[in-house]
Amino acid sequence: MKIALAYSGGLDTSVAIKWLKEKYGASIICVYADVGQGEDILKIDKRAIASGASKVYVSDLKEKFINEFVFPALKAGAVYEKGYLLATALSRPLIVWELARVAVIEKCGSAAHGCTGKGNDQVRFEVGISTLAPHLEVIAPVREWELGSRDEEIEYAKEHGIPVDVTKKSPYSIDRNLWGISIEAGVLEDPWKEPPEDAYQITKSPQAAPNKPAYLVISFEKGVPVKLDGKRMKPSSLICKVAKIGGAHGVGRVDMVENRLVGIKSHEIYELPAATILNTAHKELEGLVLDRETAHYKELVSQKYSELVYYGLWYTPLKKALDAFVNETQKYVTGDVRVKLYKGTCAVAGRKSPYSLYNYKLATYDKGSTFDQKLAKGFIELWGLPYKIRAQALKRNR
Ligand code: ARG
Repeated sequence: MKIALAYSGGLDTSVAIKWLKEKYGASIICVYADVGQGEDILKIDKRAIASGASKVYVSDLKEKFINEFVFPALKAGAVYEKGYLLATALSRPLIVWELARVAVIEKCGSAAHGCTGKGNDQVRFEVGISTLAPHLEVIAPVREWELGSRDEEIEYAKEHGIPVDVTKKSPYSIDRNLWGISIEAGVLEDPWKEPPEDAYQITKSPQAAPNKPAYLVISFEKGVPVKLDGKRMKPSSLICKVAKIGGAHGVGRVDMVENRLVGIKSHEIYELPAATILNTAHKELEGLVLDRETAHYKELVSQKYSELVYYGLWYTPLKKALDAFVNETQKYVTGDVRVKLYKGTCAVAGRKSPYSLYNYKLATYDKGSTFDQKLAKGFIELWGLPYKIRAQALKRNR
């Protein structure tokens, strides 16, 4: 029997290798999808083998992650509960895709993941697997085993000769990729406590950020960022650069209590410098080029899209249909946005587009306006007509 395991290199999935081997007498194929976790890939490989894996697949999926998962969500304007730009949630469908791909190549009968039974990630993994490869049986070791605490896990690891990296011990549970970082657990479990500085990994505190603002010009083509300060860059490099500058200016910190899919409210913090900056710029450009009705309707779509991503419904017909709508709206979302980063804020400082619907001659209050104000009178009369008639009817019957 063979089991494909979504391997992260952390304690949970390292222990899971041994646990699965013992419980099922199976050989374990580890699958590591690199979406920008910042791990040393060579160490991942060695660590999995040392923990008992028979084979390890390590794939660089960073560009695919950005192009096929992050950018569609950026174009859609997907933000869960007004704060979370979905970094973790967007990576899961890709990791699942890779897990299913390897499971098929290796003719595995089962796929396993290291998620706990309390979070959203287990849902994303399992719904993803059952859509992409419904023949696979799913195993969730961390949800099943009786290792109650981290200390018990470390004990189990030591007993079974699994290498434990104690230097990596953090009081938080951290999930990282190119789009952002999710941090939970430890003192963050008290939502009244201000998160300590040491919880933040890639952003400077706004107080400690430089006193001078930084300006960035982001160029979009059809809703996708392609240039930074006039320089064309590949997506992952552009995002890393924006994240670095944004982080140095304290941009992208989010502290929220959110509604998990499994019914729990949880307090989490996020660091989303690149996501915050690009989302702000993208929204601004849309403001310039989208007509009012499309812009307003798209807000409903953004809301639904964020739920689909958060709820693990990436590979579903509705998500695909919404992508078609979103792509149609992005045809002319091409142009430049200048943002100003200053002590934790990201403000728009300029926007332009060849498809801009902003018309100076219509908008200006100076002379030279081409807007015929006389037309406004009749327009308003008809616009308000139904309410005028109603008011008269009510008056008659008083
Ligand atoms: N609450 C976020 C989400 O559901 C982040 C989850 C973070 N996961 C983790 N293993 N720390 O997408």
